[in-house]
Amino acid sequence: RVAYVNGQYVPHSQACVHIEDRGYQFADGVYEVCEIWNGNIVDERRHLDRLERSLRELSMDAPMGRAALCMIMREVIRRNLVRNGLVYLQVTRGVAKRDHYFPPRDTPPALVITARSTDPRAADKAAEAGCAVITVPENRWERVDIKSIGLLPNVLAKQKAKEQGAKEAWFVDAQGNVTEGGSTNAWIVTKDGTLVTRPAESGILRGITRQVVIELAAREGISFEERPFTVEEAKSAREAFITAASTIVMPVVRIDEAVVANGHPGAISRALREKFHEVSE
Ligand code: PDD
Repeated sequence: RVAYVNGQYVPHSQACVHIEDRGYQFADGVYEVCEIWNGNIVDERRHLDRLERSLRELSMDAPMGRAALCMIMREVIRRNLVRNGLVYLQVTRGVAKRDHYFPPRDTPPALVITARSTDPRAADKAAEAGCAVITVPENRWERVDIKSIGLLPNVLAKQKAKEQGAKEAWFVDAQGNVTEGGSTNAWIVTKDGTLVTRPAESGILRGITRQVVIELAAREGISFEERPFTVEEAKSAREAFITAASTIVMPVVRIDEAVVANGHPGAISRALREKFHEVSE
């Protein structure tokens, strides 16, 4: 395997960043994960739009222009012979003496890009079974709209989920509404067949997969409402699922102790998963 680190393609096993990198010391950086499908970066433009927004919100410079970034991503994918998989891109505020204030203006941002293959058949098989989620109190900062590498609450929540035999943890806000998962957006289908997900205005990352699923639902004539939903509503929903570049549409068949519907992935979740790549770019 090969990784791109600050201007060089290096063997993945030897790919290192400096101990004074601000990503390492302060989680002072942002990232993107894109799906690679049949050799293409899925929704690349939207991911790069979001990356630029995350950088802007943190007053960070882009490491290079978009065309150069795209070229390097493609080169990492090519060198790793990935047809189906994930590409990871991380930008930090660079290497400087440890000090909370931003480093000197001329400090170049640090860029790391990796790519790895995944097994689409194994993913489809997992999706046929569906997954379990647990719920945990929301304890993240207010700027979860920024795709920051500061993911400690997400790590702790997802580890707790794993220890309880679940794939994901849904954060629940003070009003009892589900915000999102540790690394996914959260959805339900109500008893009357309406697709529901939380508005992007607050409490969630504006998922690219989420946006594509909204567009797919419109194309399929599925009624859709953007509104918060509670854990109780989710537990008695007809269907539930999660979305992210890393899982596309993954049906949820258990929420805490509650089995969702008959415990099998629902028709709308399955249809959205099957058709996703017809509308993604
Ligand atoms: N996670 N919400 C959170 C907190 C996320 O970390 C992610 C993505 C999403 C879904 O966004 P998208 O559809 O653009 O992937 C929602 C990535 C995959 C990760 O951290 O691995």
